[in-house]
Amino acid sequence: MQEVLNYINSNRENYIEELKEFLKIESISSDPEKKSELTRCSEFVKDKFHQMGLDNIQVLNTEGHPIVFAEKIVDPNKPTILIYGHYDVQPVDPLDLWTSPPFQADIRDEKIWARGATDDKGQVFTHFKSIEAFFKTSTELPVNVKFIIEGEEEIGSPSLVKTVAANKDLLKCDAVVISDTSMYDEKTPSITYSLRGLAYFQIEITGPNRDLHSGTFGGAVMNPIQALCDLINGMKDKNGHITIPGFYDDVLKLTKKEREGFKRLKFNEKAYKKDLGVKELFGEKGFTTLERTGARPTFELNGIWGGFTGQGAKTVLPSKAYAKFSMRLVPNQTPKKVEKLIQAYLKKAVPKSVNYKVEALHGGEPALTPIDGFAIQSAARAMKTAFGKEPIFTREGGSIPIVVDFGRILKAPVVLMGFGLSSENLHSPNEHFDLNNFQKGILCSALFMNEFSQA
Ligand code: BES
Ligand code: MN
Ligand code: MN
Repeated sequence: MQEVLNYINSNRENYIEELKEFLKIESISSDPEKKSELTRCSEFVKDKFHQMGLDNIQVLNTEGHPIVFAEKIVDPNKPTILIYGHYDVQPVDPLDLWTSPPFQADIRDEKIWARGATDDKGQVFTHFKSIEAFFKTSTELPVNVKFIIEGEEEIGSPSLVKTVAANKDLLKCDAVVISDTSMYDEKTPSITYSLRGLAYFQIEITGPNRDLHSGTFGGAVMNPIQALCDLINGMKDKNGHITIPGFYDDVLKLTKKEREGFKRLKFNEKAYKKDLGVKELFGEKGFTTLERTGARPTFELNGIWGGFTGQGAKTVLPSKAYAKFSMRLVPNQTPKKVEKLIQAYLKKAVPKSVNYKVEALHGGEPALTPIDGFAIQSAARAMKTAFGKEPIFTREGGSIPIVVDFGRILKAPVVLMGFGLSSENLHSPNEHFDLNNFQKGILCSALFMNEFSQA
């Protein structure tokens, strides 16, 4: 094993150069014009699997972007891990806020700067390199390894569930490992034991059948933007409490132990506010910031438009108004049930003076994993060795929709062993990945396999 770790430590520069090539591919899954880049990126992953010496490499074509599978079965009696990650990335706008171009992969301040650096290409790469290190040093892999790397995570993984369900035997494993979450801070390795879910909607409000002169008709009909604002106002109050009837019914309460755990993390509110450029924080009354972002559901407006938004003034009474809004869900809420609650709320609350259409765009279920299983404890030991510090167990606010399905379909525990930082601008301009955590992540992946082989 020491030989593997030595090999990893002496190849740091090569790893960075190779990661750059992965990051230069513009694999923005939501952009139809980038479809060929997604294909190119799946080819890149496939080629890496070949170079690593994996077997049974398959590109599983879907209605959307390809899913890449590969495996190395060294001994059927050994435990098997399935490593999941995504090669797709978020859009890059606003482009002018990037210090270096998003697909150039610049190195500055011991970080690599590019879209997808921390979410999720850099993190996925840690596992590629750790497994390669075993082969390069002719050390037998301590476990059987399978990979499933998709290209649609950032658009809600629409094809993946079907593929997982249809390939249950191929994907059979004793644990699923995912590195697509964050550490608490750059010194504190973390194992995430809960992720929030998501329920995302778009609403269209229609007032009069055409845009009207606001002088001639103003006062006679309901303005759809006004109606939309009223409806939105009815969904969250001034205390940050969501007022959609029934919304909190299924919310699992935080345990006393969890609340104590959050408190022990010594959250620096001053630094947090300064970093975000706000004078005051706002959130659900009665909960701390870490609880609000990790363990409580939220309601957010993602976009709102309608009427005249050009330069100058136009006295118009618009025909239509739109909003995109979403809720982060926590165990045991489900996007299906929340959709029903939204429908029921709107049915009651929308005034007769306007019409409405609401559409569920995408959803994902919240995840909660037990922390006493062998897989998670193996990850904790690996993290401690790699980072030189005991990891903490955290709940995070982001979503990875497939986590719950892995548990349900493959009946295997999911380990969320992330090497990112929440300050690394995932989904924002100037995304980056700390190169020290990249290197420690590679070591951690190798150490995890060694620990888990004792299962
Ligand atoms: N890697 C993130 C999820 C994440 C972020 C987990 C931060 C923990 C901490 C993932 O790529 C992501 O962005 N997911 C989307 C899912 C959505 C598109 C269905 C999200 O959370 O918005
Ligand atoms: Mn991700
Ligand atoms: Mn993401």
